[in-house]
Amino acid sequence: MTKKNYWIKKKGKKGEIIWRKGRAQGLEGAKGRIGNISEQIKELLKKKKKIKILEVGTGFGRALLELKQIYGERIEVTGTNYEKEWNQKLTNEYSLDQGFQKREIPKVITNVDAGKKLPFKKDAFDFIFCQATMQYILDRSLFIEEVNRLLTKEGLAVLELQEIRKDHPPEYYNLFEIWNDTKQINVLSYLKKFKNIKIKKSRGRYWHYLIMKKVKKLDLKLKLNAVIDVEAISEKFWGSKLVYMLK
Ligand SMILES: C[S@@+](CC[C@H](N)C(=O)[O-])C[C@H]1O[C@@H](n2cnc3c(N)ncnc32)[C@H](O)[C@@H]1O
Repeated sequence: MTKKNYWIKKKGKKGEIIWRKGRAQGLEGAKGRIGNISEQIKELLKKKKKIKILEVGTGFGRALLELKQIYGERIEVTGTNYEKEWNQKLTNEYSLDQGFQKREIPKVITNVDAGKKLPFKKDAFDFIFCQATMQYILDRSLFIEEVNRLLTKEGLAVLELQEIRKDHPPEYYNLFEIWNDTKQINVLSYLKKFKNIKIKKSRGRYWHYLIMKKVKKLDLKLKLNAVIDVEAISEKFWGSKLVYMLK
């Protein structure tokens, strides 16, 4: 996708700052999209004293801020963003404006293109999540493999595969296609075949998310053959359609 110039903040009628809502879904937004991640983290904390958490495509970092408010020193949180404007300074400003404490502010790394090798060492995170972001990632098969690489042995990842709006046409409903020569393979059935991957439906929505445990090496055996920038068709669309062939 192209790096669009999304507005970040506006001035409200009473002079208050209005922050772009779509980049601050927080834990409430996550519930509908990727389930109750706070509960998943609580479970992980039963087995480990302190855990490291990564959100890919964190926006303002609201979900990480809320998690830090709940779990404090027991979690270390990092978020990534793609565009350089969505940086640490912005997250600091957002966090303090929203009443969070300085100690709750996540570390934010910018210019992270999650369609490439992720800039972290293997086994670096116990919990990785991604919401409202995967449709922008230009190699989602590599991304899933990379998330597996970054997970610790007991780690867990929760990834929203894409989102869809009611006014999006059927062609948009699956932005992650897999083909075997002339035959299309259902992406959800395909991913489900990997023993470390479970597919769940996002609550009250048309789309799905993936819950993944760590395996030693994950090879989804997919080759990226085409990328269709759907944002070039309409401003109302988000991200890209990816077409994979079986290797
Ligand atoms: C709609 S925002 C979602 C923000 C946050 N997760 C939330 O739900 O509030 C989309 C996020 O995707 C990130 N993003 C866009 N393209 C990306 C790419 N190619 N690789 C990684 N992240 C990307 C943006 O930086 C932004 O943080």
